[in-house]
Amino acid sequence: MSNTRKVILLTGVPGVGKTTIASLLSERLRGVHVNLSELALAEGLVTGYDSMRETSIVDLERTTTRLMEIVQEGQDPLIIEGHFSQDIVPPEGVSNVFVLRRAPWRLKDELESRGYSPEKVKENVEAELLDVCLVEAVEAYGKEKVCELDTTGIEPNEIIETITSVLRGERSCEIGVDWLSHPESRELLGGGG
Ligand SMILES: Nc1ncnc2c1ncn2[C@@H]1O[C@H](COP(=O)(O)OP(=O)(O)OP(=O)(O)O)[C@@H](O)[C@H]1O
Ligand SMILES: [Mg+2]
Repeated sequence: MSNTRKVILLTGVPGVGKTTIASLLSERLRGVHVNLSELALAEGLVTGYDSMRETSIVDLERTTTRLMEIVQEGQDPLIIEGHFSQDIVPPEGVSNVFVLRRAPWRLKDELESRGYSPEKVKENVEAELLDVCLVEAVEAYGKEKVCELDTTGIEPNEIIETITSVLRGERSCEIGVDWLSHPESRELLGGGG
């Protein structure tokens, strides 16, 4: 990715708050907010529909090509959000990756309130429990670019303050969310739906 603009990624499983935070952050930084799922859907960059997961299948190659065009289109900071960011955005040129985390037992309530099927809730809650997005982000971008943010019970504006202080180099990044050591996790892993 040959660019000079600042590229910031926000990832995390569905329902952790990516869109909320990306939108506030792009306002704060006077940047451009790109929601990868919305981009793919709006521009027809999909290959079909996954009825098991109840979601469209994003055409990774065409979405990557389109994103590269967007990167070249300006100089303002680019705030890119998507749980599959690592499949689209190449590591060169990415300055920071924020992995949003939310206590799985709270995430479960959020996803159930959206009317997701029990299977879809379970898949996403388990992905959060097992740090799937964190592992993928570290694999794709390296530990030094990745920050984990536990947003549970934290006001969006406070999260923006944390992110901007990391971006200014006033605060170091942390990795260390561990849901499995919480007693609530046992119940979620114990089966049922
Ligand atoms: N820090 C927060 N504290 C409390 N509620 C929040 C916070 N951030 C987001 N929310 C709320 O949680 C819900 C999910 O947030 P949001 O839609 O931003 O998640 P998302 O990660 O973009 O989900 P998806 O991947 O499905 O698009 C929304 O109702 C939002 O208002
Ligand atoms: Mg969203």
